[in-house]
Amino acid sequence: MPKDKKNIVLIGMMGCGKTTIARLLKEKLHMHWVDMDLYIEQKYQMSISDMFDISEDYFRERETQCCKEIAQKENYVISTGGGVIKNFENIEALSQRGYIFYIDRPISLILKDVDTSTRPLLKDGAQKLYDLYEQRHSLYLKACDYHVKNDGTLEEICLKIMNLFKEL
Ligand code: S3P
Repeated sequence: MPKDKKNIVLIGMMGCGKTTIARLLKEKLHMHWVDMDLYIEQKYQMSISDMFDISEDYFRERETQCCKEIAQKENYVISTGGGVIKNFENIEALSQRGYIFYIDRPISLILKDVDTSTRPLLKDGAQKLYDLYEQRHSLYLKACDYHVKNDGTLEEICLKIMNLFKEL
């Protein structure tokens, strides 16, 4: 029986691996891939940092517009920005054609991988990441169809998602 939803949508904290995992899934499942942050930057010809310099609202309005556009695609793996769950309209749009996977990576592991100085929301340091996780974990859980822990290898997390998606 064909699946009623054709996209895989990855949500989770910044640095949890969404973009890397999405690129691998795209190859393994022969799907297309779109990264929300890159899409926004290309559409508005402006970096996300510059948008945040105007205001966070300025960025979030554009993020919601892009969610609605991307949500119309089919056979896509979609990697989202970490704050996509701040507006439930975004999730409503993305879940029309997509199954939503929450990539949950321990903050201690994220901090080993990311350069906090290059992310607008992390310029105040690592504690901010723990605070954001506190605020957002329940929103990610509420938004997702599947909660997937990412505390092993990239291969393992891809396999978990592929197995779940195949069963749908
Ligand atoms: C954000 C995460 C970023 C980017 C923006 C805001 C957030 O994306 O959308 O800086 O609110 O967590 P990544 O999760 O890809 O870093």
